[in-house]
Amino acid sequence: MSEDGKERTAELQYDDGALRLPVLTGSEGDEAIEVKTLLAKAGKVALDPGFVNTASCRSAITYIDGDAGILRYRGYPIQELATGSSFIEVCHLLIYGELPGPGELKEFADKLKVNAGIPEEMRTLLDAFPRNGHPMTLLGSAINTLAAYYSDSVDPSDPDQVELATIRLLAKLPTIAAHIYRNSVGEQPVEPDASLDYVENFLHMTFGQEKGQGELGSLFVKAMDLLLILHADHEQNCSTATVRVVGSSQADMYGSVTGGINALFGPLHGGANQAVLEMLEEIRQSGGDIDAFLERVKARETRLMGFGHRVYKNFDPRSKEIKGLASQILANQERPDELFELALRLESKALADSYFTERKLYPNVDFYTGVIYRAMGFPTNMFTVLFAIGRLPGWIAHWREQAADSSARIARPRQLYTGPAERAYPGHA
Ligand code: CMC
Repeated sequence: MSEDGKERTAELQYDDGALRLPVLTGSEGDEAIEVKTLLAKAGKVALDPGFVNTASCRSAITYIDGDAGILRYRGYPIQELATGSSFIEVCHLLIYGELPGPGELKEFADKLKVNAGIPEEMRTLLDAFPRNGHPMTLLGSAINTLAAYYSDSVDPSDPDQVELATIRLLAKLPTIAAHIYRNSVGEQPVEPDASLDYVENFLHMTFGQEKGQGELGSLFVKAMDLLLILHADHEQNCSTATVRVVGSSQADMYGSVTGGINALFGPLHGGANQAVLEMLEEIRQSGGDIDAFLERVKARETRLMGFGHRVYKNFDPRSKEIKGLASQILANQERPDELFELALRLESKALADSYFTERKLYPNVDFYTGVIYRAMGFPTNMFTVLFAIGRLPGWIAHWREQAADSSARIARPRQLYTGPAERAYPGHA
């Protein structure tokens, strides 16, 4: 609808006809051509591999302007949330639409504390998993089984069950992640401690008494809280879109989030934080020759991991915050961090190279997170699990938004068939 109240349309012309399609405007002025009548009226489908131009839904959760480097959760700029709110407050904001008042915050945080434990049978299950299995694989398997342990919270049409699943997922995922980590390093799991805040408790369950103490401990807690906020939602990214697709069949929230975890694991998405650290190690081990590495990237032998983004074509606002945090954390170390120094040089060389600037490739959220996680004591294979803890409220918020939308339909894309035309079946000799 335009300002004068007239419906706006776009005309699509094709060989044997034309079609007027509505032009819709979002609350920030973004425009979309609605093609839902295309097949019925024109007998044609829209082909858009990778959904580069396709808006799959209307959503009121997160706004991104990729050219201007803007990211807002429910209208609030990410930079302000990062400095003024805790991760738990951001979870509340994303899931329920508003920042919590003091009473609501306490109630929400208490519910998460009460639900942080996991059933004894689940501990046995986690202990039976291969100890050297990748933590993301194990996390996905474990989260899927929550639907079996908590079958009283799997009905997407019952708001009370949806609320129960929301709290259980938020409360238990860090406990499960820490348990998987402790098993992988051959240590006894640590029980949740209800006297601790969400992030403190996660670090406590992961590292026991070794970390989280003193000045450095509180810096780590603050850093982890900030990183979780910066990862909390990013509209229709690959894992969130997956959660929505799975949920669109009215699958339960646990199974839908499991789909998101598996999508996040890929190196082009959340798995990039692990891949960046491995790339930096590889460059260091081969003598630190950044120019030679960039030549390999330009020859398309490999990718510069932690660079590039489908939406950000100028800069990723999360990356700016994270780079500042990395400098702060690593300044507290006794010796300069070799991989951080390498990452800084790699970034500045890439940004001075026309291959990257012409393609609008800039550091993304994953470029500097790994060096921070490493400084905190996490092994590389836990990095994407930390991303999953951060992204969980976003997955839940999108799942709930879709479940509450009476106009939502099952996600069922079309295709352009390119296989053989009908042919004679050879029969049996
Ligand atoms: N290194 C080298 N070249 C790249 C890179 C990169 N990291 N990213 C994109 N390109 C090139 C690509 O080869 C293509 O060049 P050309 O047009 O000459 O063929 C052009 O840039 C466009 O790339 P694309 O793959 O079509 O872009 P996309 O929007 O489909 O992919 C991306 C986005 C993030 C998957 C991609 O940039 C990438 O693979 N980056 C490295 C992995 C990474 O850091 N992923 C984390 C993304 S941010 C957080 C998250 O989602 O989890």
